[in-house]
Amino acid sequence: MLYVADYPVGLESKVLQVNSLLKNQCDDDVAHMVSIHVIGGIGKSTIARAVYNSNSEQFDGFCCFLENVREKSVKHGLLHLQETILFEILGDNTTRLGNVSNGMSIIRQKLSHKKVLLVLDDVDKIEQVKAVARAPNWFGYGSRVIITTREKSLKIHPWVKRSYEVEELNDEEACKLLSWNAFKTDKVDSKYTNILNRALRYASKLPLALEVVGSNLFEKGEEDCKLILDQYARVPDKKINDILRVSFDSLDGNDKDVFLDIACCFGGYKLSDVENILDAHHGSSMRLSIESLIEKSLIKIDNDLVTLHELIKEMGREIV
Ligand SMILES: Nc1ncnc2c1ncn2[C@@H]1O[C@H](COP(=O)(O)OP(=O)(O)OP(=O)(O)O)[C@@H](O)[C@H]1O
Ligand SMILES: [Mg+2]
Repeated sequence: MLYVADYPVGLESKVLQVNSLLKNQCDDDVAHMVSIHVIGGIGKSTIARAVYNSNSEQFDGFCCFLENVREKSVKHGLLHLQETILFEILGDNTTRLGNVSNGMSIIRQKLSHKKVLLVLDDVDKIEQVKAVARAPNWFGYGSRVIITTREKSLKIHPWVKRSYEVEELNDEEACKLLSWNAFKTDKVDSKYTNILNRALRYASKLPLALEVVGSNLFEKGEEDCKLILDQYARVPDKKINDILRVSFDSLDGNDKDVFLDIACCFGGYKLSDVENILDAHHGSSMRLSIESLIEKSLIKIDNDLVTLHELIKEMGREIV
């Protein structure tokens, strides 16, 4: 099972909607592709992980959730995407692909009789899809490929049979997500109603911002909350990067340095590796820094890997 979210809200109905798009549409049940699209930070990857969990059992282990396709293809190239897929689905790490076009024929050859579930998370170029899933006949009957993307144009690719535009959270869901992050409960003392309402306005119902803004209010008294909200009030146009930056600005100097190191260099690294590297630069206090970055929802630990959201990484890179 993939990790989905710390405080999932409103996911069931979205998973049901995507599942209905994945359903068999005709008798021969050839493979088909579904796209999940909308701007960043709204929850595409989260929904895709939940959909993957709810379907993977039907695919006899021939499943692969390929994260961060955009970033991986820039860093490691398309050949690496192809190798990862073959490894994840078939456990095959011995076949040498040589080059991308060879890789394409090998994927087709090895998977065209397997019923696979493949998720390509955060695709931004059609070449990425073509390299690993060029056409329905690359995979066996009943296969499903899901892509998540910020790019509306990708949903018109002929492979994509159906697409799902993620709806934003409704008021109640947004309030729940914010409350869980700020107070670790959704039953919040009424004296905080005003504070919650203001915070909701600044986070504009974007789940990522709700997490980060909420976490910034965690364990703060009423007066401190108001001071923090005043900082959000000063952000012009409520630009997401600047809203996220308020959390960065509230960190201690050492925590800031650790955050910038992670944002620029160590996203996706193993926690123990990051600790070893940072220990040399910052001493053992970096452990406390890592704790406070987790508390602020600026980084997460997922399966022993240090992860941070693209938009948070971008915010960090903008600062450097
Ligand atoms: N329904 C939800 N319930 C709780 N948390 C959520 C929900 N949807 C998203 N989140 C949280 O919001 C953050 C952003 O979500 P996610 O990474 O899925 O967005 P995204 O649309 O994939 O963004 P990007 O386009 O940048 O990849 C994550 O930290 C996630 O945990
Ligand atoms: Mg994503």
